[in-house]
Amino acid sequence: MKSVAILISGGGSNMLALLDDMAKGDHPARPVCVISNDPGAGGLARAAERGLAVDAVDHRKYRGDRPAFEAELTRRLKAHQPDILCLAGFMRILTDGFVARWEGRMLNIHPSLLPKYRGLHTHARAIEAGDEEGGCSVHEVTSELDGGPILGQARVPIVPGDTPEALAARVLSAEHRLYPAVLRRFAAGDRTPVLL
Ligand code: GAR
Repeated sequence: MKSVAILISGGGSNMLALLDDMAKGDHPARPVCVISNDPGAGGLARAAERGLAVDAVDHRKYRGDRPAFEAELTRRLKAHQPDILCLAGFMRILTDGFVARWEGRMLNIHPSLLPKYRGLHTHARAIEAGDEEGGCSVHEVTSELDGGPILGQARVPIVPGDTPEALAARVLSAEHRLYPAVLRRFAAGDRTPVLL
């Protein structure tokens, strides 16, 4: 049984999807903690309501000193001994040192069909480009931003008149199906991409 820590920055809907799936008896992993870089993140209260250990390391206190922020994050994570780290709407860029420490054990969900649209404003960029499809990707985190090996993708249509907000909502529903499916496979030692 693998232990999973989830890092969030906001509402944590992907985190809840992961927790819901891990609550099922046949899952090869169990959640051990949810940590945010923002003490006010709505997802922390939602995780606590479910009995999860929650914690926050406020990045603003580190004034841009990423290694110091990550050293504290590492210290808090160590208390829970996770095998796998899931980034779920975690909006901090991580240093190469932190990424190396978690190599092969850290996943991220990104709201585009990578390698298209790394970074921010993915939905606006997909609409602007005239794409007929959008979607989301779960990938291993490497030192290349949004660039690690892809472990799964889910596609959704882009319809005429779509707005970034409407597309984001459609993609988010797909994220809630994709991330749990990938984590299940990954925790069982299978890195075959999940395609939805
Ligand atoms: C999700 O759409 C996720 O893909 C995105 O933030 C949202 C978090 O929602 N992540 C990124 O953009 C990472 N660069 P949630 O807090 O409800 O899970």
